[in-house]
Amino acid sequence: MNELVTLILAAGHGKRMKSKKHKVLHAVCGTPMLEHVIDLAQQLNSKDTICIIGHEREQLMPLLEQKNVKWAVQAEQLGTGHAVKMAATYFGSGDVLVLYGDTPLIDIETLNAFVAYHSGNDFAASLISAVLPDPTGYGRIVRNDEGTFYRIVEQKEANDTEQLINEINSGICLFKASALSEGLEALKNENAQGEYYLTDVFEYLSGRGMGIGAYVSDRPDSLMGVNDRVQLAQAEHYLQDAIIRKHQMNGVTIVNPAATMIGKSVVIGMDTTIYPGTVLKGQTVIGEDCIIGPNADMTDTKIGNCVSVKHSTLIEAEVGDSSNIGPYAYLRPKSKVGKSVKIGDFVEVKNSTIGDDTKISHLTYVGDGVVGKRVNIGCGVVFVNYDGSHKHISTVGDDSFIGCNTNLISPVTIGDGAYIAAGSTITKDVPPESLAIARARQENKTNWSSKYQK
Ligand code: UD1
Ligand code: CA
Repeated sequence: MNELVTLILAAGHGKRMKSKKHKVLHAVCGTPMLEHVIDLAQQLNSKDTICIIGHEREQLMPLLEQKNVKWAVQAEQLGTGHAVKMAATYFGSGDVLVLYGDTPLIDIETLNAFVAYHSGNDFAASLISAVLPDPTGYGRIVRNDEGTFYRIVEQKEANDTEQLINEINSGICLFKASALSEGLEALKNENAQGEYYLTDVFEYLSGRGMGIGAYVSDRPDSLMGVNDRVQLAQAEHYLQDAIIRKHQMNGVTIVNPAATMIGKSVVIGMDTTIYPGTVLKGQTVIGEDCIIGPNADMTDTKIGNCVSVKHSTLIEAEVGDSSNIGPYAYLRPKSKVGKSVKIGDFVEVKNSTIGDDTKISHLTYVGDGVVGKRVNIGCGVVFVNYDGSHKHISTVGDDSFIGCNTNLISPVTIGDGAYIAAGSTITKDVPPESLAIARARQENKTNWSSKYQK
């Protein structure tokens, strides 16, 4: 195989999206379209990956930096051919692959087969095409009577007969670097949009007798271009369907696929059941035999085996085996929950460790806490971690019991086996095995109300 350089086109306006956000940053299954394409490009054996950016490029920079991708700027959007030209210094002497930032569903198997088809046949230029029931909006592949590739005609320039052609250009194409440079030099912008079309390079090269390959993909869904929000929803549907199918094949029960959203990097163990309304994003990993949902919303969260999570939100959290979360719990970043723990309704946990077999059943806030094993935290307990300028850490020892409506004014340390009486506001450390009562003593005024009413 020849040395490969991969370009990703993402300089265009994306006007049809009608959005303040750059078109290629719109997400499909929770991941920006451009990120899908970059991830794919990075799986290829390319020497270099270069993204062509222009319109509102500052929006794209954080992603490019995060993914360590080079870029070339197309200051004025004069067409896809002009965009490719902006990266000419990177072409090298091998092959140049062009991907589109708005074609996010392309799969690695198709790309590898395409690269092999191009180099195996020694073509000067190749493209991936597909036959669609409705080709509207795409460039069409015009073939001569023998069926050999002749040229690509854009929708806007296609005559009535050409409009009927349902073999479309996916946009994804591969060139010998020398042929590409020659073709780009010859490009003209005499067309409906006044743009330099990359697609015209094919007609130029075929006119000079060079070999052109049109690789007809049998996965047309994976080639769809996303120009507007209708297509964005279609892309979401196709990719979600594929992701869910993969999990089903791995032994995960998804009770209602249409009401479930799972990101492409999520891992789920065998015999786990996902109930409707569940959204699993980022690098979330779920173990075996779990019951997730209804309405579990997780981002970058790690869940052990045999865990139940209902009606809850978890962000960058960790939950050990056999724990029960929710309904209506909120685990915020750096919450580390141990094994066989119960985190019940309206409990919020942030930047805290919760030891094995601990119960925090209702209406409690644990912020910046280190909670031991077998602790019982009653209803309405608040870790008062913030003094208005700083966050403080409180520690609660193993086997302790925190009564209802306790305030732990951080930083405090509650020793192992200590008891806190309900309604206490704890400002001092409590030694192990002790009882702390920090509330006003009750006084009963007998016969008070009858006197008061007189
Ligand atoms: C393009 C193809 C069409 C193909 C379709 C597949 C051309 C001329 N047409 O049409 O044959 O069927 O994709 O989805 O190539 N871009 C730039 N700079 C520019 C213009 C565009 O970087 O000056 C980028 C866009 O950001 C986008 C990609 O190139 O990621 C495609 O541009 P777009 O305007 O969406 O082309 P289509 O009309 O969809
Ligand atoms: Ca497009």
